[in-house]
Amino acid sequence: MARKLMQAVHYNSYGGGSASLKHVEVPVPSPNKNEVLLKLEAITINPIDWKIQKGLLRPLFLPRHFPHIPCTDVAGEVVEVGPQVKDFKVGDKVVAKLTHQYGGGFAEFAVASESLTAARPSEVLAAEAAALPIAGLTAHDALTQVAGVKLDGSGQPKNILVTAASGGVGHYAVQLAKLGNTHVTATCGARNIDFVKGLGADEVLDYRTPEGAALTSPSGRKYDAVIHCTTGIPWSTFDPNLTENGKVVDLTPGLSSLTTFALKKFTFSKKQLVPYFVTVKREGLAYLVQLVKDGKLKTVIDSKFPLSKAEDAWAKSIDGHATGKIIVEP
Ligand SMILES: NC(=O)c1ccc[n+]([C@@H]2O[C@H](COP(=O)([O-])OP(=O)(O)OC[C@H]3O[C@@H](n4cnc5c(N)ncnc54)[C@H](OP(=O)(O)O)[C@@H]3O)[C@@H](O)[C@H]2O)c1
Repeated sequence: MARKLMQAVHYNSYGGGSASLKHVEVPVPSPNKNEVLLKLEAITINPIDWKIQKGLLRPLFLPRHFPHIPCTDVAGEVVEVGPQVKDFKVGDKVVAKLTHQYGGGFAEFAVASESLTAARPSEVLAAEAAALPIAGLTAHDALTQVAGVKLDGSGQPKNILVTAASGGVGHYAVQLAKLGNTHVTATCGARNIDFVKGLGADEVLDYRTPEGAALTSPSGRKYDAVIHCTTGIPWSTFDPNLTENGKVVDLTPGLSSLTTFALKKFTFSKKQLVPYFVTVKREGLAYLVQLVKDGKLKTVIDSKFPLSKAEDAWAKSIDGHATGKIIVEP
């Protein structure tokens, strides 16, 4: 049976940035046996979405084919379920992570795997939830799995540095770190210092000042872990600021950080650089949704764009100066 048509935004080849996004009408996708079809209410952009367009994951054959509808982090309402879906029914409000292979977020409807979909209670707005999957879980997993922070506050005290604390990942990292037994130092631009203090950071450095560039804690602390959400900071800057066993969790590992990682391993250094890539899981997503519902975590929204202006949202994300998350609404 022919499917109804929907509005979507796609691109046809690598490169081209926002100018190569095209508004199109395409058939509403059909859910496979373990998938739900969602009527989307909010979509967020993560840097990986436009990095895939740039060709960063071309060696991994991503995206799987062109044209490609980008974006993976969405919230909406279930309007159809595959025959083997057990936990969702038509009418449920949910948040989901689509796959990087097939994307699908920049559209009115998208199919999501049941295993990457979590229920969204009415207290959590669609935009607040859509922002969570990649950005929220990266912050959560980097803090808990690599930095060893226990979010129930039961762990040993730790000094944490969050770089680019005003961004999508950073603003969650500061809030989540403060649920644990931590002292948080954060870096951001001058205009965001009060904002980042408001998220709970104990001390904040302007990254354009000499102290900020040196990452020096104003209270003289050494960091047990750095949740490193920006790029271009050499190991020689981190090294003097770390405790004996300090770790830098690098969320954007390039050639130089991979070299440092190998060197630290090879020399049995106690200080480590850990390249980190998130794997989104449904349980983690449900946990973050619950934190938002309980008022323990908030999504800060930089800006909202209608789907008809998706290219403006895309350009804003590429520009790299968002405070919190950029949302697109069909
Ligand atoms: N490995 C993974 O699994 C994973 C997952 C998610 C994200 N990431 C990566 O993590 C990075 C951050 O992602 P995001 O979504 O948080 O990005 P984002 O939201 O675009 O970050 C923008 C923010 O970064 C701030 N900023 C830029 N350069 C800075 C610097 N040198 N020092 C301090 N703040 C700086 C900007 O502040 P100003 O406007 O003041 O400059 C802006 O508020 C990206 O490279 C992304 O690809 C990796």
